[in-house]
Amino acid sequence: METGHYEVLEAEGHLIDSHIMERIFDTVVEYQGEFQVEDFRIGRTNSEPSRLRLRVQAPTRTLLEQMLQALLALGCSLADAGEVELATVERDRCAPEDFYSTTNHRTLIRLNGRWIEVENQRMDALIVVEGDRAFCRRLRDLRAGDRVVVGLRGIRVLPEAKERDRLAFAFMTNGVSSERQVETAVRQTAALIRHMLAQGKKVAVVAGPVVVHTGGGPGLASLIRNGYVQVLLSGNALAVHDVEAALYGTSLGVRLADGRQEEHGHRNHMRAINAMYRAGGIRRAVESGLLRSGILYECVRAGVEFVLAGSLRDDGPLPETITDMNEAQDAYARALKGVGLVLCLGTMLHSIAVGNMLPSWVKVVCVDINPAVVTKVSDRGTGQAVGVVTDVGLFLELLARTMQEGA
Ligand SMILES: NC(=O)c1ccc[n+]([C@@H]2O[C@H](COP(=O)([O-])OP(=O)(O)OC[C@H]3O[C@@H](n4cnc5c(N)ncnc54)[C@H](O)[C@@H]3O)[C@@H](O)[C@H]2O)c1
Repeated sequence: METGHYEVLEAEGHLIDSHIMERIFDTVVEYQGEFQVEDFRIGRTNSEPSRLRLRVQAPTRTLLEQMLQALLALGCSLADAGEVELATVERDRCAPEDFYSTTNHRTLIRLNGRWIEVENQRMDALIVVEGDRAFCRRLRDLRAGDRVVVGLRGIRVLPEAKERDRLAFAFMTNGVSSERQVETAVRQTAALIRHMLAQGKKVAVVAGPVVVHTGGGPGLASLIRNGYVQVLLSGNALAVHDVEAALYGTSLGVRLADGRQEEHGHRNHMRAINAMYRAGGIRRAVESGLLRSGILYECVRAGVEFVLAGSLRDDGPLPETITDMNEAQDAYARALKGVGLVLCLGTMLHSIAVGNMLPSWVKVVCVDINPAVVTKVSDRGTGQAVGVVTDVGLFLELLARTMQEGA
C-alpha cells in the first residue's frame, strides 16, 4: 500500500454500546484502508464517554476522502481539526464543488476558535455561516454571496447515543417489531406521546389514505380531539377519503360499516371532492356545519395544523392541497418545528419525505403492514425510526383506547 494518504481522527461518546466503534473499523476496511488505534479510553460508568484516537490510511487520496466523509458521519473528527473552511457562493443555487453535505445528526463547526452548533439540522443540506451562527440550508435556497462550509476540517458530527432511559423501546434494537409485540408497541408509543407533551414538544402524525380504508379514522380523530396530536402531514388522498367517510360513510365507495361496495359507490369519492369545492374548502365546510366528523374536522375544531401535499395522481385536488412541490416541502418543514415525536402511519412516500427533514434526535415510529417500509425509511438516513409491523387501523384503535384509559 502506498503510504502518505493518512489522517489522525478522534471520536468521543458511547462508542461501544452504540456499536459505533465496530462501524468505524468496518468503514475503514470498506474503503480498502487500514487503521491503527493510537489511544482508547473506555468510559467507566454509564454516563462517562469513551475516547478513541485512530490513525487511518487509504491507498489513494480519493478513497481517503470518501472514507473520512463516512467516518465523520459516525462522529469522528480530524485530530488537528483547526478552523472550518468556508467558500463564497458565486451564483444562486450553485455550491462550490467540495461543499460539505450534512447528515441529520447534531453538528458542530469550529468558527473563530469556538465550536458552535449548526441550527436547523437536517440531512442533505449545506452549512451556511452568517456572523457567528451556522445554519443548514438546502441547495435550492443558496444565494450568491452565502458563505458555505467546504472540505472536512473543523466539523464534528455527534450521532445519537443508544438510549439508556426507561422510555427506550424494547423493540428499538431490532428496528422492526413483530405482530406479537403490537400491544407492547402501542403502550410504549402512548408513553412516548405523554413524555413529549409533558416536555412541551409537539407530536406529528404523517398519515396515508390507508388509515381511512382500514377503519383507523375514528382512532386518529379521537387522538386529535383529545389533544395528543399537534400536526397532521398528509396528501390529498387521506383528506378526500376522510371527507367521503364523514359525508357518505364510504371510502372509495366501500362502506366502512360492513366493508361492502356500494352500488356506483366510487361516485362518492368524486362527490366528496365536489362538496369541498362547493363549500370553498375543508375549513369552510366545518365552519358551515357541512362537515361534522372525521380526521380533518377534528383538526379544524382543535386548531391542529394540517398540511396536504399534492401528487401527480391526485383527484381534484382539494382546495387545501398544495400542488407546488417546493412549497409543500417548505410547509411540511415549517410544521415540523418543535416536534419531538413523529408517528408515520401507512405511507411510505410521506414517511421518507418527512424523515429527510428531521434531525436524528426526533423520535420516529413507523407503522406499516410491510416490514420493508421501515427498513427503507431507515436506509434513507432516518436511522432512528422504529417499526411496528401491523395493520394501521388496529394500531390506531388500540392507541386511542390506551390514551383514553390512561387519561
Ligand atoms: N384519490 C386521490 O386523490 C389519491 C391521490 C394520491 C394517492 N391515492 C391513493 O393513495 C394510496 C397511496 O398512498 P401513498 O402515496 O401514501 O402510498 P405509499 O405506497 O407511499 O404508501 C402506502 C403504504 O401503506 C402500507 N399499507 C397498506 N395496507 C396497510 C395496512 N392495512 N396497515 C398498515 N399499512 C398498510 C403499504 O405497505 C405502503 O407502505 C394509493 O392507493 C393511491 O392510489 C389517491
